[in-house]
Amino acid sequence: MQKDWDDSAQAWIDVMGTDGDWGRRHVLDAPMLARVEARGFRRAVNIGCGEGRFCRMLKARGITTVGIDPTAALIERARCLDPDGDYRVGRGEALDLPPGSMDLAVAYLSLIDIPDLPAALAEAHRVLRPGGTFLIANLQAFNTACPDQGWTREPDGSRRFCIDHYLTPRTVWVAWRGIRIANHHRPLAAYLQGLLDAGFELRHFAEPAPQGVDDDKADRYRRAPNFLVMEWQRRG
Ligand SMILES: C[S@@+](CC[C@H](N)C(=O)[O-])C[C@H]1O[C@@H](n2cnc3c(N)ncnc32)[C@H](O)[C@@H]1O
Repeated sequence: MQKDWDDSAQAWIDVMGTDGDWGRRHVLDAPMLARVEARGFRRAVNIGCGEGRFCRMLKARGITTVGIDPTAALIERARCLDPDGDYRVGRGEALDLPPGSMDLAVAYLSLIDIPDLPAALAEAHRVLRPGGTFLIANLQAFNTACPDQGWTREPDGSRRFCIDHYLTPRTVWVAWRGIRIANHHRPLAAYLQGLLDAGFELRHFAEPAPQGVDDDKADRYRRAPNFLVMEWQRRG
């Protein structure tokens, strides 16, 4: 599946710009940053860091951050935007980091992209110190279970969000603004049980609403939210 990301890298860079897309700016950044502010984290790994935007945000908060992503063009862009940063081509399933070396691991909308979820969760657990934090933003599982972005029109013109085959894990292709990538649909239980099996305990769970915006997109988001935020702790 790496070819999808290699082929979509430039479109992704264009969509992200320097400030991120609508969902990141209006929904996810604030609750994700709230989980890292004033917590004393010193060393972080951002798994599936893309073009490095959240790494730069962590770095601006004094956290030494390693960004890891298999898409070489995104790592190159991250290095270009942050020449002093530590960005490495690699996969979440095999992190090139010593055991127990991190206080914080972040997966910001990347677990849905990672083919081997148990391997990636085991790696996050391995590189965190006992008591370390795994902060996750992910697509809602009912969102990855929807055909064609979910929204349909009823004969009377009203919109409905539709999902199907929720319990069946599968690869789903999604395309928007020149990006065409494969996501991995898994029921929410696959993530939660996978994290428990890997040795994590749940500390925080949120389904954040859009902030500071009240347009059609925000209205659709409130009807069928795209994202969730979870914080897990590595058992000591
Ligand atoms: C939706 S993007 C999110 C990027 C970034 N975290 C952000 O929020 O902008 C998903 C990222 O996961 C990366 N990815 C794909 N397969 C991966 C894997 N096996 N391990 C780690 N990252 C992967 C892609 O290259 C892409 O950069």
